[in-house]
Amino acid sequence: MTDPAPETPADPVSAWHRLAGTAVLLDGFHALKHAVRFGAEVPVALTADRAGALALADELAGDVREALAELLTEVPHGTYAALVPRPHPTAVAALAVRPSRAGNLEKLAHTPRTAPVVVLDNPRNLGNAGAVIRLAAGFGATGVVTTGTLDPWHPTVVRGGAGLHFATAVERLLVEELPPGPVFALDPEGEDIRSLKLPDDALLAFGSERSGLSAELRARADHLVALPMRPQVSSYNLATSVAMTLYHWSATGGAPS
Ligand SMILES: C[S@@+](CC[C@H](N)C(=O)[O-])C[C@H]1O[C@@H](n2cnc3c(N)ncnc32)[C@H](O)[C@@H]1O
Repeated sequence: MTDPAPETPADPVSAWHRLAGTAVLLDGFHALKHAVRFGAEVPVALTADRAGALALADELAGDVREALAELLTEVPHGTYAALVPRPHPTAVAALAVRPSRAGNLEKLAHTPRTAPVVVLDNPRNLGNAGAVIRLAAGFGATGVVTTGTLDPWHPTVVRGGAGLHFATAVERLLVEELPPGPVFALDPEGEDIRSLKLPDDALLAFGSERSGLSAELRARADHLVALPMRPQVSSYNLATSVAMTLYHWSATGGAPS
């Protein structure tokens, strides 16, 4: 199917330069598709292959195809490549407005909460954080909160999250700022998760890759919860621990919406 080129924003490349410092980079077709599906505001979206991008939309994203056709402006490949850290195979890149902290805090604190908040206590690995945001989106978690210095909106985290930051509330907070709700902190020394039902209003907290749960988070924890693991194994990877825990929540009654 061929599309007439949409009305081009006056100068999309100038718009890109103006917004790039504060906006969220959506790197590739799939990130843009997810962000649009979950209501992101996308002031500029560029592609070096508009026909290819819209063919992908026809195949994979009929629900947002028209929105993508409206958004995407074609530019020469060299122009596109100069704007992104490394060109994506789909030759699509867009900038989205980062959701407001106030809005995210409201979503995180909203009661009654119908799905848990995932808390990553001082995570270190940007790829883990992105994978966790993708998991949280998939399971319909209320949000992902990080403590410590890692920025959960870092471009590498956004890339790992495949544009799904817009499907959940993502914020960095201090432990004392965590939203209300019972804290179930994951730790190999805790009670076996298989004997527990995790409530929908839980905060599911996970420790740092390096040192596990901090003293502050332990002090805030209402329950310590363990994932089944053979004695000779020290621990699981952070993102896989989140996956198992969210799966347990969903399998015992919590449901992705
Ligand atoms: C890579 S582990 C941390 C390992 C770290 N060296 C430590 O001393 O705890 C990251 C986080 O995943 C969760 N985790 C990993 N394996 C777990 C298990 N068997 N039971 C419960 N939580 C686990 C915990 O929240 C842990 O803090």
